[in-house]
Amino acid sequence: MVGRLDGARVLVLGGSGFIGQHLLRALVDAGAHVSCFDQTVPPYNAVLSARRDEVRWVTGDFAAGYSFGPMLQDVDVVFHLISTTIPESSNRNPRYDVASNVVPTLGLLEELRSTSVKNIVFVSSGGTVYGIPSSRTVAELHPTDPICAYGVHKLAIEKYLFFYHYHFGVSHRILRLSNPYGAAQISDRPQGIVGKAVYKAIKGETLEVWGDGSVTRDYLYVEDAVEALLLAALYAGPTRLFNIGAGVGHSVLEIISTIERITGRSMDVTYSDARDFDVPVNILDVERARRDLRWCAKTDLETGIREMLRYGQQAGANSAATDRLVSELVLSGGGSRSLGHPRDRSRADGS
Ligand SMILES: NC(=O)c1ccc[n+]([C@@H]2O[C@H](COP(=O)([O-])OP(=O)(O)OC[C@H]3O[C@@H](n4cnc5c(N)ncnc54)[C@H](O)[C@@H]3O)[C@@H](O)[C@H]2O)c1
Repeated sequence: MVGRLDGARVLVLGGSGFIGQHLLRALVDAGAHVSCFDQTVPPYNAVLSARRDEVRWVTGDFAAGYSFGPMLQDVDVVFHLISTTIPESSNRNPRYDVASNVVPTLGLLEELRSTSVKNIVFVSSGGTVYGIPSSRTVAELHPTDPICAYGVHKLAIEKYLFFYHYHFGVSHRILRLSNPYGAAQISDRPQGIVGKAVYKAIKGETLEVWGDGSVTRDYLYVEDAVEALLLAALYAGPTRLFNIGAGVGHSVLEIISTIERITGRSMDVTYSDARDFDVPVNILDVERARRDLRWCAKTDLETGIREMLRYGQQAGANSAATDRLVSELVLSGGGSRSLGHPRDRSRADGS
């Protein structure tokens, strides 16, 4: 599969972010010529490592209506991963959400009309476009009634992609991702409970849980998500829209107990009011991706969390306590897959 990207010219929008860095790495490894447009360039880290030097970086502000111009002319595939908002922030200012995501994407689609770009792969959100599910698992044909503005903007972009395909032949694939987690997500930022919980466990800090911890989500290891993105870029069949998730649900309490089981330590947790835009359960039916993309998630939650902790060590994650905790885990047999090529090791210290 990867061999078919050898020599392909690829532009990644939002490649400096959590999922984007993993995607850039996979594309470079596959032999693609990769450009990244983002507002920032990430520092050297254990995800991108030496591949950072093999990417052509272009910085700019997508929200301001950036004109890509000649940058699109020689490109085979565009991956669109930019989002200026997350579910929480989008509800505070729905106007900004549309103005900074939907309107600039329309500008991009207008530009794509007059190029030879073969495919645009858009990362949508399986966790928000469906709203409150009427069944335990949701397939692509489930009604879409988002209860957060972010879900509305994702859906609007999806519809415009179909519009530009129907009228102007701009080809696209849409991946409705569930809840990706993995290396480069370990942080205190509001999106991504697994990354936040691992961060808090490493730091020995208190994790704040909204609600009683029963909220259940479909957690998808980021490398599985990236594999789906690559397959979608290469897929030539008629299907345009795919749910991409593990197809199984885990509650926040299960995430906490998984971390506690791996580390052998109790986590300090406080509970506060549930958020009004969190649906109680969201698990994706991924049968369509299994059938058409021949893709399924391979990494279970425990394996994925062990990988994140190993990444923390490779990244030199910043405190003696972290190193000690992660060393113990590695010695106790945690982790199953290498995070990268041996040449990475020299750069994995964030230099
Ligand atoms: N992380 C998740 O839980 C999740 C779930 C489903 C879908 N998605 C979608 O996947 C995509 C990638 O998510 P992520 O978690 O990697 O997000 P991220 O925030 O880590 O990455 C987004 C990138 O977009 C860039 N960006 C934001 N505003 C920009 C602007 N105005 N101009 C130029 N660049 C800008 C950021 O600098 C960042 O590098 C997003 O579209 C997101 O909505 C994420």
